[in-house]
Amino acid sequence: MARVLLLLPTATYRAEDFLAAAEAVGAEVVIASERRQALGGAMGDRALRVDLRRPERAAAAVVELSERVGLDAVVAVDDGGVATAALAGERLGLPHNSPAAVAATRDKAAMRRAFAAAGIPQPGFRLLLPGDDAGAVELPTVLKPVALSASRGVIRADDPAAAAAAEARIRAILADAGEDPGGPILAETYAPGAEVAVEALLRGGELEVLAVFDKPDPLEGPYFEETIYVTPSRLPAEAQRRVEETAAAAAAALGLREGPVHAELRVDGDRIRVLELAARSIGGLCSRSLRFGAGISLEEVILRHALGLPLGDHARERAASGVMMLPIRRAGTLREVGGLDAARAVPGVSDVRITIAPGRPVVPLPEGDRYLGFAFARGETPAEVEAALRAADAALDVVLD
Ligand SMILES: Nc1ncnc2c1ncn2[C@@H]1O[C@H](COP(=O)(O)OP(=O)(O)OP(=O)(O)O)[C@@H](O)[C@H]1O
Ligand SMILES: [Mg+2]
Repeated sequence: MARVLLLLPTATYRAEDFLAAAEAVGAEVVIASERRQALGGAMGDRALRVDLRRPERAAAAVVELSERVGLDAVVAVDDGGVATAALAGERLGLPHNSPAAVAATRDKAAMRRAFAAAGIPQPGFRLLLPGDDAGAVELPTVLKPVALSASRGVIRADDPAAAAAAEARIRAILADAGEDPGGPILAETYAPGAEVAVEALLRGGELEVLAVFDKPDPLEGPYFEETIYVTPSRLPAEAQRRVEETAAAAAAALGLREGPVHAELRVDGDRIRVLELAARSIGGLCSRSLRFGAGISLEEVILRHALGLPLGDHARERAASGVMMLPIRRAGTLREVGGLDAARAVPGVSDVRITIAPGRPVVPLPEGDRYLGFAFARGETPAEVEAALRAADAALDVVLD
């Protein structure tokens, strides 16, 4: 039986889906996670405790385990594990990305530099250190931390005073996240246009697009709360082709070669700009909106590739499909989410999941980093899916204390 090690960062939403995929492909799972609780009943050689913030040490532990039990694949389920997976894959001779390529995906400044060097179209950028004049950057600007995610600390500013205020706010968010508040912050020019996400798989350096999602809600700031993703994209075929081509060039510019890719781009008329590209699959529970071939999940596609198993038919299903990351509109303590039955009963809606437990704090952007939950829908057309997701959201009644 093939054996796969799954690297599970503490805050991941993906554990259940990857475990189900491993079962579906008939692979035995070894879990490497940061906390003992996350290991559940897994014991002995079925579980490993690692600190994913120290990829060298974590990879050494993975290699040592592999020498004992034999691992056929090492898969990071989220961003937090990609550095460890790259190092371990290299040492074990498994298909892997180079550690340097993966490191560039985890540092937005390094990524911008790599894209600039390769001529990948992207927003203009500058780094801001404490004491630099944030108001002197090209406006409108988007200020952001170099190494957070989920749009946390990403703020648009249209004038010098707003830029200075945003920088101060981002430094406070960095301190709160346990990052260096005195480090560089990225100031990018604001890229207008429609935003799309590309879900893809690299095999031997060849990028295959699995899905292109539109993000039909305007993402104009000052904070960038992601809500609806719908596939297939409604962009003209030619624009989609160029989006796919640009995403492939961006992955190559970073030196990525194997495994899942999630890229975000903006399309402004003829102009396409890469916002970013990650060496992982789509985050949160969003992958549940994707079905391939005879009904296999994105996680199954990823595991099959990592284990060297045939992918078989893995074209995305015919139906339009989408997911809504349920927005957190106010701060407070979650008491309950009413209207779940009504939301689930909306025609086309396949599921609604709340991922914050009652009694837990809910924090809107730019400080927050968790989603309230996810709604999923399928339909004949992208417009139908979008409407179903909006109706599901409208049916929910989020009660805060
Ligand atoms: N230069 C820019 N111009 C226009 N919009 C931007 C720019 N940079 C970021 N955004 C908006 O902010 C969102 C989040 O930015 P970015 O992807 O850099 O941060 P992130 O924290 O990695 O987000 P996530 O983890 O959600 O992908 C983008 O999806 C986009 O909507
Ligand atoms: Mg992003």
